[in-house]
Amino acid sequence: MTISRENWASRTGFIMAAVGSAIGLGNVWRFPYICYENGGGAFLIPYFFALFTCGFPLLMLEFVMGKRAQGGAPQAFESIRPFMAWAGWLACLCAFTIVTYYCAIMAWSWDYIWYSLKLAWGDDAGSFFREHVLNMSSGPGVLGAIQGPLLIGLVLTWAAIVAILWKGIKSVGKVVMVTVPLPVLCLVILAIRGLTLPGAVDGVTYYLQPDFSKLADPRVWLAAYGQVLFSLSLGMAVLAAYASYLPKDADISNNAFMTGLLNCGFSFFAGFAVFSALGFLAYQTGVPVQDVVESGPDLAFITYPTIISQLPFWAPFFGVLFFFMLLTLGIDSAFSLVEGFATPLKDALGITHIKVVIWISIIGFIIGMLFITRGGLYWLDIVDHYVSDYGLVTIALVECIVIGWFFGARKLRREINETSEVRIGIWWDICIMFITPLILGYFLISSLIKGITEPYGGYPVWANWIGGWGMIILVIAISVFLGIKFKRKEVQ
Ligand code: PFF
Repeated sequence: MTISRENWASRTGFIMAAVGSAIGLGNVWRFPYICYENGGGAFLIPYFFALFTCGFPLLMLEFVMGKRAQGGAPQAFESIRPFMAWAGWLACLCAFTIVTYYCAIMAWSWDYIWYSLKLAWGDDAGSFFREHVLNMSSGPGVLGAIQGPLLIGLVLTWAAIVAILWKGIKSVGKVVMVTVPLPVLCLVILAIRGLTLPGAVDGVTYYLQPDFSKLADPRVWLAAYGQVLFSLSLGMAVLAAYASYLPKDADISNNAFMTGLLNCGFSFFAGFAVFSALGFLAYQTGVPVQDVVESGPDLAFITYPTIISQLPFWAPFFGVLFFFMLLTLGIDSAFSLVEGFATPLKDALGITHIKVVIWISIIGFIIGMLFITRGGLYWLDIVDHYVSDYGLVTIALVECIVIGWFFGARKLRREINETSEVRIGIWWDICIMFITPLILGYFLISSLIKGITEPYGGYPVWANWIGGWGMIILVIAISVFLGIKFKRKEVQ
């Protein structure tokens, strides 16, 4: 018996869902900083190199693997080599791990919408964030209580995820028509506000001032690869799951080009909004731009609130707008991570989609409570480092090896070209077989050497073991177990 698989209602729905997954918090708080740190305007060279040699090829690879297997990452790997299903489960579990803390960050954003109304951080946004909102303990060894207001944010986030995924891919296709354009609109308003403030030009100059000498440093190229992988949601089971709902004759290459370009265009544009605001902060405080630049949570929850307080008019409005933008940016990335796990699990267990989503969400919510305790941020930082620096790169590397060397890059390229508007040439094979695996292999080995010789982030060795290596070993063990346990019932 063949169960017919539901499909996206439209091609736009699929592209928007992929773009929604790609465009997330990372585009605003990671890209501009990485660009500035690694040569400013000159960084666009390694970035585009990484986009063409790794971003587009892997997007096409994950799209076509999901489409041809009509299943998520484990089924896609299994259809190539049955013993490789574990690699797909590994991707699912990494996605699940990411979503547990991604939702905690979204919980902060919910609370900050509220705080923005009264600019509650006063004139010390740093202390407000660390001491009031997170109520941080002295280290990862002291977990402390769950923070009540954050718990409300966490509940809201998970409830939103369950509601959106309730009707499966059909509702995703509709929701992304709102959650993708909305943050773009917010960002345009914030960029206009930022660029019309005094000091903006200095900020933007810092962001893009090219420093070509940086291009000789291999770390800059690795940073470009890392950013492209994370930003395009590659190596995380998400895109294969989304593509598994594509009809058999769906285009691959053009969809991949559109997803990649829209995401990277957004990142580049976000840099203008962020750096113009940083330029303004430097102007207001008399501190040089390079000393006010931050990335990650500090940029969003300390530096940006500080900037908002200094705005000449409508400060609460811009505060609400910024955190609302973070929420709408994050939500489609968050539910894509859940869907990446839900799709293959539902296929493997043969139970309804919503049941799987509810179970994943309950477990994700319970684990996520760790990240809203007083010691939560330390754990978030550790887990994030290990999943995104090792998990993601490992899976992308395995994908290249399995397709490039076991299955045959040429064979898969022919399949891509059969249904694609833009035919791709032999460069794709070269990227999948040589360039990307070599660079990712180098990336992985060098980070492993560094990781083994010095514990991450100055945290104690035991914390690195529990939140890092131990977590990785557990995730691999579960993946192998799932790979053995769920043999595919049917291949369409
Ligand atoms: N691409 C998202 C971002 O840049 O914020 C993060 C992300 C979402 C990573 C989904 C991985 C993923 F599967």
